[in-house]
Amino acid sequence: HAEPDTDFILSQNQEWAKEIVKKWKFSKDTEHETKPIVVAGKEIVTGRKVYKAIDKSQLKDEVLAGKFAMANEDDLKRAVETAKIDIDGWRSKTYAQRHELLKQAAIKVRERRDDLIGVAAAEVGKVFTETDVEVSEAVDFIEFYAHSSRYFEEYTNLKFKGKGVGVVIPPWNFPVAIPLGGVAATLAAGNTVIIKPATVAALTAYEMCKCFWDAGISKNVLQFVPCPGVLAGEHLVGNKDVDYVILTGGEDTAASMLKTRPDLLLTAETGGKDATIVTNMADRDQAIKNVCQSAFGNSGQKCSATSLLVLEEEVYNDENFKKALIDTAKSMSVGSIWDLKNRIGTLANSVSGKLKEAIENLEEGEEWALAPSYAEDNEYMLKPSIKWNVKEGSFIHMNELFGPVLAVIKARNVKHAVDIVNATGYGLTSGIESLDEREVNYWRENIKSGNLYINRGTTGAIVLRQPFGGMGKSAIGAGRKVGIYNYITQFVDFEEVGKPE
Ligand code: ALA
Repeated sequence: HAEPDTDFILSQNQEWAKEIVKKWKFSKDTEHETKPIVVAGKEIVTGRKVYKAIDKSQLKDEVLAGKFAMANEDDLKRAVETAKIDIDGWRSKTYAQRHELLKQAAIKVRERRDDLIGVAAAEVGKVFTETDVEVSEAVDFIEFYAHSSRYFEEYTNLKFKGKGVGVVIPPWNFPVAIPLGGVAATLAAGNTVIIKPATVAALTAYEMCKCFWDAGISKNVLQFVPCPGVLAGEHLVGNKDVDYVILTGGEDTAASMLKTRPDLLLTAETGGKDATIVTNMADRDQAIKNVCQSAFGNSGQKCSATSLLVLEEEVYNDENFKKALIDTAKSMSVGSIWDLKNRIGTLANSVSGKLKEAIENLEEGEEWALAPSYAEDNEYMLKPSIKWNVKEGSFIHMNELFGPVLAVIKARNVKHAVDIVNATGYGLTSGIESLDEREVNYWRENIKSGNLYINRGTTGAIVLRQPFGGMGKSAIGAGRKVGIYNYITQFVDFEEVGKPE
């Protein structure tokens, strides 16, 4: 069964949310203690560079979300040595012993739902409801990977042995669930693990790691090394004693890792340009609700976000549909993360690169149905926007933006719509809104995508129920899906144990 999310409609949960605000909303005068790196069983702060994380909801007042130490070259070398030696014998434990410790870690995560929500709000700017579902997913990941290791030992003739040293390089947009998923899979498979968190989400990753350490998994077995990407590339990815890397990040990062180490066992999820198709046969009100949540939830900063809306002609020309879509997008209030009525918080990074290009330019024929703007004069509070009359092959059709910008393209029919979606070359998530089974079947047969959602949003996959991962430009390596039984098999070697006839 899946871990339940919090129902924030209930008044006791609203009170609970207010307690989180009290604890995690800091002021300018808050004294933050610097969070350590954790290498070779030790917490280290002294002599290391310190990174200051800002609370973007309180930008003008220059309030910090916290501070943490950054690892240097020697720390990374030592971390790999420690992981390789396996001081605490993690690899030689039985799967049952590891399973027990992982179960304890799941309990810690469950108990610290409030702190994980609070730290992610302060640091990454994610609204409570969005982190809340991540915490549920995190619990599911630990329990499921622990369970799948047991499955191989108890129900097959296979004995497995961890490959050795795993490095987890997660993104910042799911600051709890994705780092934790990589760590849990690596540990369940009987490997030691080094996590290099994303710099804008390191405080959250630290809180997540604490759940494992406090459950009794040692600081030699799980090491924590925030550091610049270049250093990680050279001294983690580039270190031959690292047996594999789990990456969620850009295609460029994955490519540069493979350039550094062509022989690297890399399993990577590398983004998406995900679309929802709304056909003439859709429940249009339901479609608008699903699309807006998928496009603008967490400011569109999800690899699974709907960022293309492909409308069959009649829907495209339906003025009521267009108006309702715009009104719904506008109703998703953007603002301070600490004001619990806001549906969307702050961007993790200020607007730059492809997102900047998409919001500053209109290509031929394009127009804003809802123009981009900012709330509270804050450069991190970008409101939802909708670009209309987007043409096939345009910049916004083909590029992942990671922001709250929805591009709308008209399609002649369902076949044309599918062609438009497949043209991106990505293939992570895809949605269709249609009540016609024949259309849905055609789409299901022809769409090139890892996760297919029918009359449902394209985000929020549930472990095991919707194993998550894609194809095409969205994935590299054998392990294309997380939250599925064979995920951990990438990180182990099997030996078959002969049984008497
Ligand atoms: N697993 C995340 C989702 O489904 C990325 O939205």
